[in-house]
Amino acid sequence: MIELAAQPNGLWRVGFAGDTFNTLWTLKALLPREIAVDYVSAFGEDPFSIRQIEFFGAHGIGIANSPRLSATRPGLYAITLEGYERSFTYWRSDSAARRLADDATALKESLVSRDLILFSGITLAILDPQPRETLLRLLEDARSAGSTIAFDPNYRPRLWPSAATARTALGDVLSIADIALPTYGDEQILFGDKTPQETLDRLRSAGVVESVVKNGAESALVDARRSSTIVPAIHVDKPLDTTGAGDAFNGAYLAARLTGHAPPEAARKAHMVASRSIQTAGALMPMNKIAAAFNF
Ligand SMILES: Nc1ncnc2c1ncn2[C@@H]1O[C@H](COP(=O)(O)OP(=O)(O)O)[C@@H](O)[C@H]1O
Ligand SMILES: [Mg+2]
Repeated sequence: MIELAAQPNGLWRVGFAGDTFNTLWTLKALLPREIAVDYVSAFGEDPFSIRQIEFFGAHGIGIANSPRLSATRPGLYAITLEGYERSFTYWRSDSAARRLADDATALKESLVSRDLILFSGITLAILDPQPRETLLRLLEDARSAGSTIAFDPNYRPRLWPSAATARTALGDVLSIADIALPTYGDEQILFGDKTPQETLDRLRSAGVVESVVKNGAESALVDARRSSTIVPAIHVDKPLDTTGAGDAFNGAYLAARLTGHAPPEAARKAHMVASRSIQTAGALMPMNKIAAAFNF
């Protein structure tokens, strides 16, 4: 999405963000340069879409075989501040991303031979039922062909017609996830989980073999092949901006897993990166800072 951030002087700063993009950004910062990193979606042909794709490219992020659709534009959101309270206004009902699975052939090509594919509950929420089916079928195919599928449910009530619809969609999709990366607060609201352990138990029952339940300033619960570990978060006195903390965590966790770290160590590194992220304004941290936090 395009992000507009209100500046104290009355101007708006234009940026690019969104949950899956923030995660990919963190991954890109941490993976060896030669590993191809692509953001698979659909894009417009307007000046904003062009700038968006140029921005991705300038940071080594491609768009694979994502369709370019002349009739669409990127989704947009604005961040305004009331004192220290941030509020978000969205214009996304006709965003290009909602068309990412309209062309099954193009999407299939974009997903071929990937080590890792990450998607989220927001990806699912913005798709109509038919393209959502297409996406899930292609993810299953990719998984059968050897890709690891990672999923962050990132439940956002406003994006779903009802909680029941979201419960079904976000519950069913666990059957194709190799790695689940939920945040306890979201799961609590949607599924009524009373503890992070209950969230984990639900993921285990759904057959997910590797999960991390994030929980803000509290410990993360890491589970791999039915062995769970509590990994404490890093204390931050005064968080500056918690936007994108979970995404930074996901990106760092997945980068660590891809580069051979065991799940508890990956979570420890992910906390390091996320704790830096909440001390940095905006959803995207500079890539060199991400790498420094990861290697700390
Ligand atoms: N107040 C905080 N203090 C320290 N770390 C935090 C804080 N809030 C978030 N984090 C870090 O960011 C990660 C993700 O935050 P969380 O709030 O659980 O996810 P999300 O941003 O997806 O809602 C946490 O696991 C932790 O590493
Ligand atoms: Mg989140």
